[in-house]
Amino acid sequence: MSKFELRTKRLLLRDLQIEDLAQLHSYACREEVVRYMEWGPNTEDDTRSFLAHSIEMNNRNPRLDYELAIVLEAENRILGGGGIHVSNRANNEGWIGYCFHDHNWGKGYATEFARALVEFGFDELNLNRIFATTDPDNAASQHVLKKVGMKHEGSMREHKLVRGAYRDTELFAVIKRDYQSSREP
Ligand SMILES: CC(C)(COP(=O)(O)OP(=O)(O)OC[C@H]1O[C@@H](n2cnc3c(N)ncnc32)[C@H](O)[C@@H]1OP(=O)(O)O)[C@@H](O)C(=O)NCCC(=O)NCCS
Repeated sequence: MSKFELRTKRLLLRDLQIEDLAQLHSYACREEVVRYMEWGPNTEDDTRSFLAHSIEMNNRNPRLDYELAIVLEAENRILGGGGIHVSNRANNEGWIGYCFHDHNWGKGYATEFARALVEFGFDELNLNRIFATTDPDNAASQHVLKKVGMKHEGSMREHKLVRGAYRDTELFAVIKRDYQSSREP
């Protein structure tokens, strides 16, 4: 049963459902899609576990996690998945992440999604700071984050051990003050 829904111009962002497995797995298993992710390529069991964990997180009360299917509403088709998570309620801090099937790259969907989540995070989740992290080589994602108002705050050296090698992580964030002034007429 889907509870959360958020609409943008082209997208419906809704809670993940167990029935989404095949569409999620169609990209989570692809090497080119997960190149800069710390997980994958997934087996079907990996994707099933991710889905079960996401549904469980989404159902917690109070709700801190929104792990969502990103649906192209006109075609009722899942383009990818992503979400926003309140990682520190005491400091009103959260983070966003996303992953799209490569068939859907380059059409502005990630920017539309990230913008909607940043807005939701500040306006509805009462966050003061929203961050995201990327692989240093993930230029497309870094571009998306800058387009939605995030600033590069630094690099964390050898921050993650991914598929047997340490990788640096780039940290991006936007704070409410900047977000509000960027919306003033
Ligand atoms: C990163 C990702 C979400 C981008 O999705 P997308 O749908 O292509 O994003 P958008 O179309 O909204 O915007 C991409 C922007 O980056 C730009 N871009 C694409 N490739 C680029 C590159 N190699 N260098 C610099 N900019 C690049 C595009 O031109 C576009 O900017 P523009 O609208 O100003 O022209 C997508 O590639 C993806 O899902 N990758 C796999 C998972 C992943 O890496 N997720 C992010 C983890 S941090």
